[in-house]
Amino acid sequence: MSLLPYPLARALLFRLDPERAHELTMQWLAAVQGTPLERAVGGAMVEDPVELAGLRFPNRVGLAAGLDKNARCIDGLGALGFGFVEVGTVTPKPQPGNPKPRLFRLPEANALINRLGFNNDGLEAFIANVKRSSFRERGRILGLNIGKNAATPIENATSDYLVCLEGVYPHADYVTVNISSPNTSNLRSLQSDQALDALLGAIAERRAALVREHGRRVPVFVKIAPDLDEAQVAVIAAALRRHAMDGVIATNTTISRAAVQGLPHAQEAGGLSGAPVLEASNRVIAQLRAALGAGFPIIGVGGILSAADAQAKMRAGADLVQIYTGLIYRGPALVGEVARALKELRAPRPQNA
Ligand code: FNR
Repeated sequence: MSLLPYPLARALLFRLDPERAHELTMQWLAAVQGTPLERAVGGAMVEDPVELAGLRFPNRVGLAAGLDKNARCIDGLGALGFGFVEVGTVTPKPQPGNPKPRLFRLPEANALINRLGFNNDGLEAFIANVKRSSFRERGRILGLNIGKNAATPIENATSDYLVCLEGVYPHADYVTVNISSPNTSNLRSLQSDQALDALLGAIAERRAALVREHGRRVPVFVKIAPDLDEAQVAVIAAALRRHAMDGVIATNTTISRAAVQGLPHAQEAGGLSGAPVLEASNRVIAQLRAALGAGFPIIGVGGILSAADAQAKMRAGADLVQIYTGLIYRGPALVGEVARALKELRAPRPQNA
């Protein structure tokens, strides 16, 4: 992300520690956003509007959560051509996350491992940053992704999600309930049976109150892990329906290392993202689609490094896609490449004479 050709920028950034490279890029984006330089960052946005969950997405490609945890660079990231941008995960209180180093590149596999642990400046700072952005005014879609503080016992997780839901609600086009990060102790246990039912029940009830208060129904999406079997996916699908959730984001990073055995850093703890998660993520999407039927919004994420990967995700059953790790390995050009390919996918075929 620079005025340099991306392969050159990447070569320079990859000489730095991954988290340092990330911070520098974000500082640079924060500095150029809102200035005439912003346009030099990326390409024009591909126009490919689609209605989903009552929202009008200007195209099908979004930025996945976790790249901009504090919502500092919404406009700058939007300038890369994303139809929608999801920021967070935000937690009620600021927290430092896990000790460093906690982010690793696996370049041979086009992958990353992270165990950041929801490092973020907390809800108040997050909302102040969101308010400064003009992204929504320009017809783009902003997703705000919420989680729980590490210090909050898992039994009290619901109260953290409700605090975040209340805070972000007036400023979001959609809210994502993240219950699938592997880096917060027991978080993923919220994906199962009674815990999921209790959490989604409480969220649905509070959302109903917020609809009355604000006169606007903000869609709520739930983000799930790739490390689930078909029965677990079916349980989640039923809970999404029962509590009238508006969509599902599949998937987060994986704890599996099967696809990166023997590579440097493969044994680091945390969530693996990028190319090695594509297959598992697509399997979960296909299982969700089978369980939920046509018409239930599914946002597919995990391992998109090319237009073909994104098309495969749509074929698995996704309506929209998101990208994170692909952006690190392929650069901003990937956004337009994927958006154009997905537009073509639904363009009417020329009639045979
Ligand atoms: C993530 N991801 C993530 N997801 C989320 O819901 N909240 C978060 O805070 C984070 N943080 C985060 C940090 C880092 C460094 C990475 C690489 C990823 C997960 C991300 O949004 C996405 O679901 C997965 O990375 C899979 O997509 P990609 O990266 O393979 O395109």
